[in-house]
Amino acid sequence: MNKPVMTKTKKRLLFIWSPLFLLYILSLITGFMLQTTTYEIYSDKIDDEIRIVLITDLHNTVFGKNQKQLIGRIKDSNPDLILLAGDIFHDYGSRDGAHMLMEGIQGLAPAYFVTGNHDLSNREISLILNEVTSYGITILSDSFEEIEIKGNRIIVAGIDDPVKGYNHKIEMQRAFGELHEKGGYKILLAHRPEDINYYTEHPFDLVVSGHAHGGQVFVPFINRGLYVPHQGILAEYAGGLYEHGTLTHIVSRGLSIKHPSPIIPRVNNRPELVVISVKSAN
Ligand SMILES: [Fe+2]
Repeated sequence: MNKPVMTKTKKRLLFIWSPLFLLYILSLITGFMLQTTTYEIYSDKIDDEIRIVLITDLHNTVFGKNQKQLIGRIKDSNPDLILLAGDIFHDYGSRDGAHMLMEGIQGLAPAYFVTGNHDLSNREISLILNEVTSYGITILSDSFEEIEIKGNRIIVAGIDDPVKGYNHKIEMQRAFGELHEKGGYKILLAHRPEDINYYTEHPFDLVVSGHAHGGQVFVPFINRGLYVPHQGILAEYAGGLYEHGTLTHIVSRGLSIKHPSPIIPRVNNRPELVVISVKSAN
């Protein structure tokens, strides 16, 4: 009996598709592996270094038994401030992942929360906000607080997600107009990175965002997201550090491996916990 012979075309197809298939499998595996990304930034408004942990877009994902892996990473980062910048919850389903996280970080450092579009789309949002405050986490809803950390004067401000037809530009003018008169290092929690042009109208030193999920596929070399909601294809603010004059904008690629469905893998885009070390520029 004659052995089946592979045609040239079949060989070519196998040559092309095998590496792509392997890359897909590799992405499926690494797309579940938690990564800690650290940024170092400098300011003349800071005397003693502060360490900020930024958590976004968890969508109730659980890392390790009872969220042990994620909580361990946060504790190892020795945070002076914890910022939860939206979509910690999801529109529906179990909230256990978010609860385990909030319980695990309780009392570690002052913690602040703003809503993301998926938090606000949950029909039980009022209950969710009560749950957040029950862990000692402060909700910032077009508001700010002045605090002192290691002798540094810090202003932490936060805005709600605009999903319900709210206008960031107008609301921010009302909420943060008086910040021009105040001293201190000013931080804004804003879930949406694409509204950066509104944020730069205010005297913030640091803005932290999420929402983009790294564009699901984070394109190497150009560091853009393949597709980001509300930004489109090959979007700029998919994840990373961006400078706008004196304002530093840090966008986390987020922690979700549940949303969108894990069938669409995170490619070159591991779920990310962000640590920001703000040091004295003097
Ligand atoms: Fe979002």
